[in-house]
Amino acid sequence: MATSAQNPSRVPAPAELDGATLRQAFGAYPTGVVAIGALRGNEPVGFAASSFVSISLEPPMAAVSVARTSTTWPLLAEAPVLGLSVLSHGQGALCRRLASRNGNRFDGVSWQATPDGAVLIGDAALWLTARVNAVYDGGDHEIVLMELLTAELFSGVEPLVFHTSQFRELIPHG
Ligand SMILES: Cc1cc2nc3c(=O)[nH]c(=O)nc-3n(C[C@H](O)[C@H](O)[C@H](O)COP(=O)(O)O)c2cc1C
Repeated sequence: MATSAQNPSRVPAPAELDGATLRQAFGAYPTGVVAIGALRGNEPVGFAASSFVSISLEPPMAAVSVARTSTTWPLLAEAPVLGLSVLSHGQGALCRRLASRNGNRFDGVSWQATPDGAVLIGDAALWLTARVNAVYDGGDHEIVLMELLTAELFSGVEPLVFHTSQFRELIPHG
């Protein structure tokens, strides 16, 4: 039987795609992290999401994939405008806090609300505000397509990077 060593153009049969392998595979793809937040009454609600992806320039659109098990998303989905804060390097602990299942996620977190109730995180690398445009089936997640309304870029603020379940920083290459 031919092996990949004898025939380097052939890769071995891929490993079975069980849940653990797939989690590792997705984790091998580096991403940033956004905090998605909105006011509910006077209180901020939100969570951290690494699935943020840019979609369209005209019209301006982005998307995020949200677990169907999320208890926070149904609250955010009712908000007229969402805040998306691209977390900056050094905000790893804050990110974990914004994903935690215990306690008030916003305790000790610097945040502010826009007049239309979008919640934005202090010292982030980028602020966006957005309106939900459509929600599509994404298996055990929902794909939330958003129309982007505003952007405020804090140039020079390095983003947080999430890779293999760890927070990392960008290093200039070359
Ligand atoms: C780095 C990181 C990235 C995450 N990305 C997502 C994501 O893209 N989509 C998602 O639904 N949950 C994501 N989560 C989990 C949520 O932040 C949150 O823990 C989850 O929604 C459960 O809380 P909830 O029931 O309040 O929604 C992520 C968590 C971490 C730490």
